[in-house]
Amino acid sequence: MKIEKIRLSHFRNYSELTLYPHESVNLFFGPNGSGKTNLLEAVHYCALGKSHRIASDQNVIQSGEKEALCRVTVRGESGRREIAIRLSREEGQKKTIQIDSKKIGRFSELMGCLQCVIFSPEDLSLIKEGPSPRRRYLDMMISQVNRSYFIALQQYRAGMEQRNAILKTLHQNPAADRRMLEDFENAMAQNAEIIISERLKVVSLLSGLARDTYQGISGREEELFQMSYHCSLKETEGTAVHMREQLRENREEDIRLGITSVGPHRDDLQLTLNRKNMKLFASQGQIRTAALSLKLAQMKALKHMGGESPVLLLDDVMSELDRTRRTRLLSEIDAFQTFITCTDRSDLEDDRSHREYAVSAKEGLGCMELTTEGREEEKLRLAEPDFSMETEGE
Ligand SMILES: Nc1ncnc2c1ncn2[C@@H]1O[C@H](COP(=O)(O)OP(=O)(O)O)[C@@H](O)[C@H]1O
Ligand SMILES: [Mg+2]
Repeated sequence: MKIEKIRLSHFRNYSELTLYPHESVNLFFGPNGSGKTNLLEAVHYCALGKSHRIASDQNVIQSGEKEALCRVTVRGESGRREIAIRLSREEGQKKTIQIDSKKIGRFSELMGCLQCVIFSPEDLSLIKEGPSPRRRYLDMMISQVNRSYFIALQQYRAGMEQRNAILKTLHQNPAADRRMLEDFENAMAQNAEIIISERLKVVSLLSGLARDTYQGISGREEELFQMSYHCSLKETEGTAVHMREQLRENREEDIRLGITSVGPHRDDLQLTLNRKNMKLFASQGQIRTAALSLKLAQMKALKHMGGESPVLLLDDVMSELDRTRRTRLLSEIDAFQTFITCTDRSDLEDDRSHREYAVSAKEGLGCMELTTEGREEEKLRLAEPDFSMETEGE
């Protein structure tokens, strides 16, 4: 998949921006606060309908403006598509999504139109923190290639919210009506089966990819990076039946706690290095290698599952990686359209022997394109960039 055009209007610090990215590597450099992450965030919006940061839709609308618009034109194997997302401050029409100028009714229709993988320094949380970033990692990846998964996830969450609301009512008033509990539990159980079985499939694909990538980067065969899916249910065979039983068994405890204590929302992706829990034993360097391996494995898994190369967004990660990891990363991205941001061009200095830069820096956000050495023709062409960029209001 390649993005041919990006247009932003009143999105974060961009009043207006039109950009025609290169189909291989696009490098954006500029000082802190110049809008590099905002640009990647806009691409992420068009892929998944939301920010990759903890941000509400309202946060991304430019201060003082009523609405924001981000639009991308994507070329994939099935042709060209234009995705447009409009965010408004007005009640009732906060977010509208159009694909080829047609408003879509369900969020799930957007999934897969533009597949992307984003890697930023915060992704170290995949290893360092609790289970939630790891579940998000799996959920975002699978949703992009499997719409039924995304729908199951949405329905599961809706069922759980309703179950939890009843639990809270019952906590205050044990005599309250509990008949609806069963319906919500049944719906949760059915969706849990879809979610868990898909996660198990993806983890079995990812684990080999991540293990090999890790060994490739570390250059040490004795370092064995492994992942496994840890399910909060006692059994994963016949998940729906077990889930229903366990929800029923746990009711009194759940009423006391006011939450649902079992199900895919409590599961985890366990990461180990030489069979030891990474979170507890890994060094900083090993954590970085593992995070990078998870992202590279994600790219390859998406390509394997969806048949197309996702677009790669690398936000400020170059300065975080040492030379070996950087070189390894750059050698993996050749086939992918990539957007790299960095604050300093020298972050890529090490790789000058492999890459040539052509630069077109405008005020505020600088922008340059990267081509592999030896492609003289392209280099010349890039010296007069084939993209235009207009930024205002920075
Ligand atoms: N809703 C908004 N309206 C206008 N400007 C915004 C909005 N949200 C963020 N910004 C501006 O965007 C800039 C941060 O952009 P960001 O892309 O995170 O920078 P960086 O280049 O460091 O990645 C800040 O200057 C901030 O003031
Ligand atoms: Mg940034």
